[in-house]
Amino acid sequence: GRVPVGIVGAGPAGLLLSHLLHLAGIESVVLEARSREYVERRVRAGVLEQPTVDLLREVGIAERLDREGMPHHGLSLRFDAADHRIALTELTGRCITVYGQQEVVKDLIAARLAADGRIEFEVTGVALHDIDGDAPRISYVDAAGRPAELRCDVVAGCDGFHGICRPSIPAGVLTEYQHTYPFAWLGILAKTPPSHAELIYTHHERGFALHSMRSPELTRLYLQVDPDEDIADWPDERVWAELAARLAVDGEFTLHEGPLLDKGVTPMRSFVVEPMRYRRLFLAGDAAHIVPPTGAKGMNLAVADVRVLARALTALLKENRTDLAESYSDTCLRRVWRAEHFSWWMTSMLHRFGEHDAFQRRLQLSQLRYTVTSTAAATSLAENYVGLPFD
Ligand code: FAD
Ligand code: DHB
Repeated sequence: GRVPVGIVGAGPAGLLLSHLLHLAGIESVVLEARSREYVERRVRAGVLEQPTVDLLREVGIAERLDREGMPHHGLSLRFDAADHRIALTELTGRCITVYGQQEVVKDLIAARLAADGRIEFEVTGVALHDIDGDAPRISYVDAAGRPAELRCDVVAGCDGFHGICRPSIPAGVLTEYQHTYPFAWLGILAKTPPSHAELIYTHHERGFALHSMRSPELTRLYLQVDPDEDIADWPDERVWAELAARLAVDGEFTLHEGPLLDKGVTPMRSFVVEPMRYRRLFLAGDAAHIVPPTGAKGMNLAVADVRVLARALTALLKENRTDLAESYSDTCLRRVWRAEHFSWWMTSMLHRFGEHDAFQRRLQLSQLRYTVTSTAAATSLAENYVGLPFD
């Protein structure tokens, strides 16, 4: 078949792009390797920046988000066995909203299907062809096992870090920038009320820990672990004991335990490719860049990219104007690099680095104390965390 925009990947980037194009009167097809159930259940990010929430409202998919999302007006940095609150809203006039990534994905899938949008789940063997010409094609095998092909004006590579779009670009076109960290996160989702009203980012000599949530009945928690950690070495009791040790304060704090609904290890890396485009193939979201999760920026960057991409493709396909397509990569990369820096900085300040000496550990603590006592430093963290305005 023929379609103006072929989109690979039904994560936040691909689904939101399809929705934004639909609002602009442009048809697209989304191809997804996994099943609908799988992508709707995959537990990942949980923090929406203010600009993300504003955009989701503007484009009419925030009804459930407005009902169930949890606005947070501050967060805690926990170190020296005490909480130090960053008053996000007081400092910036904006806030964040806690709402699971898979809820955003569910809302987007429902909106696309209600508008007769085409999403093909459980496709295999997706491959790109003729991406150096004006008529790129996507071949794949559909869920019923039939070979299929899409002829497109443009292809959007929204297939995440391990997708096939980025590697389809000829060698020598892209420059890669990356950084790895000597740790990973073990994340759990527990059926128990949050132990604190706000997120807690904890710096502890045993390692980083994060207290987050999904609802008044669901707690999300993370622990810094070794990068090659075997999840089998982390039975539930060990996870709870380690969380309790790292989250301990001088004074009242009770960690609420409950049955685990999910447990997984997430690697930590920073990664960017430049440019985010090759001719008629545009990369967006994790396909083009990865941040470590400490700044809660991954999903928000995916949203920011496709906002720019939808405008560029609308100008290109509706008005035959190439300027926004030409500037797509540069426009996105300015925000991407700000988020890369912020995520690296939060990660560096909050984790335990095995190779650090006593001097470096004291520098970390000094940075933490300065961040929570200086209004200027706290505001810098807060304005990045709630999300800098879109360009
Ligand atoms: P994705 O959500 O990865 O979507 C890409 C889609 O493409 C997937 O559905 C995938 O199945 C599909 N796909 C891949 N290859 C193909 C193919 N060949 N053909 C067809 N479809 C394909 N961020 C945070 O801020 N906090 C977190 O706690 C956090 N936890 C994370 C945990 C994990 C395990 C991972 C992988 C990421 C996590 N992130 C987190 C990052 C955040 O979830 C991502 O930044 C966000 O999902 C990016 O959205 P995306 O649409 O670009 O990519
Ligand atoms: C969550 C994940 C993050 O990476 C983060 O920085 C804050 C919260 C979460 O899953 O709730």
